[in-house]
Amino acid sequence: MKARQIKTNVYWVGAIDWDRRLFDALIPLPDGTSYNAYLVQGSQKVALIDTVNPSMTEVLMAYLENVPVVDYVIANHAEQDHSGSIPRVLAKYPDAKVVTTPKGQDMLVALLLISEDRFITVSDGETLSLGDKTLEFIHAPWVHWPETMLTYLREDKILFPCDLFGSHLATTDLYVRDGGQIYEAAKRYYAEIMMPFRATIQKNLEKVKDYAIDIIAPSHGPMHDRPEFILEAYHSWAFDEPKNIVVLPYISMHGSTQKMVEYFVGALADRGVTVKQFNLAATDIGKLAIALVDAATMVIGTPTVLVGPHPNVAYAAFLANALKPRLRFVSIIGSYGWGSKAVEQLAGMIPNLKAEVLDPVIIKGLPRDEDFRALDALAKTIVDKHKEHGFA
Ligand code: FEO
Repeated sequence: MKARQIKTNVYWVGAIDWDRRLFDALIPLPDGTSYNAYLVQGSQKVALIDTVNPSMTEVLMAYLENVPVVDYVIANHAEQDHSGSIPRVLAKYPDAKVVTTPKGQDMLVALLLISEDRFITVSDGETLSLGDKTLEFIHAPWVHWPETMLTYLREDKILFPCDLFGSHLATTDLYVRDGGQIYEAAKRYYAEIMMPFRATIQKNLEKVKDYAIDIIAPSHGPMHDRPEFILEAYHSWAFDEPKNIVVLPYISMHGSTQKMVEYFVGALADRGVTVKQFNLAATDIGKLAIALVDAATMVIGTPTVLVGPHPNVAYAAFLANALKPRLRFVSIIGSYGWGSKAVEQLAGMIPNLKAEVLDPVIIKGLPRDEDFRALDALAKTIVDKHKEHGFA
């Protein structure tokens, strides 16, 4: 593929990773991803904004084959999917400098063993002239590491935010063309990567709102030539109140918890609540993360294994705790055969969730009439709580 022009002397020089299915050995990538790098050729200096995952260094180097000089490598983020090819670029261009935040330098020295004399560190708001083009650096810590910054190309009104506003999607489309598909992919990305840092995301959204932006060029997925699409989506995910939604991750071993879940989902749906049910025996954990972005309540369904929750349920609870969604209420339903401390153990796994814990429904064996009445009561409590808080 050739370098793809975005504006005069500004090019996309990224790598499309169609086959990658897991990120950080953790995050499912159902639709692959891309690592977007950008070449900005000013009248006097040339900058490369971010690089690509080390597995695809050769793709980037092929774009650079006929580029005689790169003066600056802008490192918006030290994570290796964007920084991992920097050493190779520096080897090709011995006079090039890496431009990053002071924290970015520390991390790149540690992660990639780049020599300190190859760096220029920039402060928040500092600019770098390439001649007829000017790069402005916007410090934006915790999107999603402490060293992150955004780069704004003033003359062309392009924001290069690295991970922020990105989506894991392999596509040959340079720009978003299927808004529905990108909304889902970008929400998944937000849920898995950005949601734990919602407070700083909010600050950074405030920080960029006064910039005139024609194009948002993230480092994963297609670019946004209608920036308001992704800015409004992020604003909603980061700022809005939760919705009248219950997320229900569960698993069942012998069918008792399954019966409870089926009944409980019906009881909530009959009362007008949207329920998102995830059988953890076969779920894409990313879909659970997406559902947690908007949900007001999570109810965990678990059988008892050796007195505690099923390990798949413990994993889901651990994940929800790490992602810090804006849940307001949490409860647990489930069954045991001869004894259970599943509630106590699960409650101890979710200290980050600043949610009110509603009375759980834990039963012995198969559910009986009184157990279904208890599930009805829990459903009614959730409905009342949602109404009280105005969650629509
Ligand atoms: Fe796409 Fe935080 O790396």
